Amino acid sequence: MPSLTIKNPSGDYPIHIGEDALASLDAAGLDVFLLVDSHVPEVFIDAVSTRIHPVVTLAMPGGETIKTLATYQDVIDKMLVNGLSKASLMVAVGGGTLLDLAGFVAATYQRGIPFIAVPTTLLAMVDASIGGKTALNINGHKNMIGAFHTPRSVHIVPSALNSLPLRERRSGYAEIIKMALLKDRALFNALKNPLDMSDIIRRSIDIKRRVVERDYRDVHERHVLNYGHTIGHALEALHPSVYTHGECVAFGMRQMARGKPFEKQLSALLAHHGLLVDIPYDKDTLYRLIRSDKKRRQTTLTLAIVDEIGTSRVETVPFDTIMTFL
Ligand SMILES: NC(=O)c1ccc[n+]([C@@H]2O[C@H](COP(=O)([O-])OP(=O)(O)OC[C@H]3O[C@@H](n4cnc5c(N)ncnc54)[C@H](O)[C@@H]3O)[C@@H](O)[C@H]2O)c1
Repeated sequence: MPSLTIKNPSGDYPIHIGEDALASLDAAGLDVFLLVDSHVPEVFIDAVSTRIHPVVTLAMPGGETIKTLATYQDVIDKMLVNGLSKASLMVAVGGGTLLDLAGFVAATYQRGIPFIAVPTTLLAMVDASIGGKTALNINGHKNMIGAFHTPRSVHIVPSALNSLPLRERRSGYAEIIKMALLKDRALFNALKNPLDMSDIIRRSIDIKRRVVERDYRDVHERHVLNYGHTIGHALEALHPSVYTHGECVAFGMRQMARGKPFEKQLSALLAHHGLLVDIPYDKDTLYRLIRSDKKRRQTTLTLAIVDEIGTSRVETVPFDTIMTFL
C-alpha cells in the first residue's frame, strides 16, 4: 500500500515511504538503466539493484554541476552504447540534482521512457521527487530547460538519510519549513520539536501534493512553491556551489518575510535547523540575476507571498517590486 498517491493528468502515481519502500520497486518487462549518486552507500544501491536487475548502472557524484547538457549527453551516450530501447526504464537513486537530470533524460530519450525515483536527500524526498518537474541548468542559470515527466513511482527510505552530511539534511529542512509556512501552521509549530522523520516527510509531501494536483503545469497556484526561490536561485547563480539550495532558499524566505508579523518566528525556526546563514550579495548584481530568471515576464514578476503562517497566495507585481525585498 503506498503511503500517498498523487493524482496526475498523465496517470496517478504512488509514493512509498518507509523502511520497506524498496519492496514495491517493479521493473518487470523493462530494460533498466540505473543512474546513481556515487555518494550514496553501496549497500543501499545494492538493495535497489537486486530488485530491478539493471542492464547498466552509471554512477556520478551529485551536485549542481551534473545538471548540464554535457552530463546529459554522457548519460544518453551510455544508454545508446548499451542498446537501450524505448522499452527501457530509468531508475534514479540520489539527490535532487541527480533526479532532475535523470528525469530529463527519461522525458526525452526516444521521446520518453518511464522513470522511477528513489530520492536519497531530504530535499529530494520532500520536494524534487514530487510533482514531475525535471530540469537542467544552462550557462549557470537554474532550470533553464526541462520537461514535465511524472515518475511511475517514488520510493522513500528514511534511513537512506543516515549517510547524508548534516549540512545537506539541514538544506532539506528549508523546503519543509517553506511548505509548512505556506500551508500548514500545525506542521510549522511541530517543527520546533523533534519529530518522527517518516511523519515529517509524509506531511510535507502531502502539502506539495495538494498544490501540484490543482496546478500540475505550474500555471498559477503552483508558483506559491517558489516562495523565497526568486532570490534563492539568484544567490545560487551568484555563488555557484558555495551555499546549498536550502541555504539560499532559506535566505530568500527571510528576505520575503521582512516586516511581516511572522518574521521573528521564521528566523527562529530557521536558526533551530541551522539555516540562519548570511549570504553576501550586491543588490544591483542580484537584481540583474533575477531579471534573467525564467519567471521574468516583461515588466512584471510573479511572487509567492505569505501573509501569516499557513496562508499564502500568488501575486503578479511590477518587476521592480523585487527591489523592496533585497
Ligand atoms: N524538480 C523539482 O521539482 C525540484 C524541487 C526542488 C529542488 N530541485 C532541485 O534539487 C537540487 C537540489 O537537490 P539536493 O539538495 O538533493 O542536492 P544534491 O542532489 O546536490 O545532493 C546533495 C549532496 O548530497 C549527496 N548525497 C545524496 N544522497 C546522499 C546520501 N544518502 N548520503 C550521502 N550523500 C548523499 C550528493 O552527492 C550531493 O553531494 C537543485 O538543483 C534544485 O533545483 C528540484
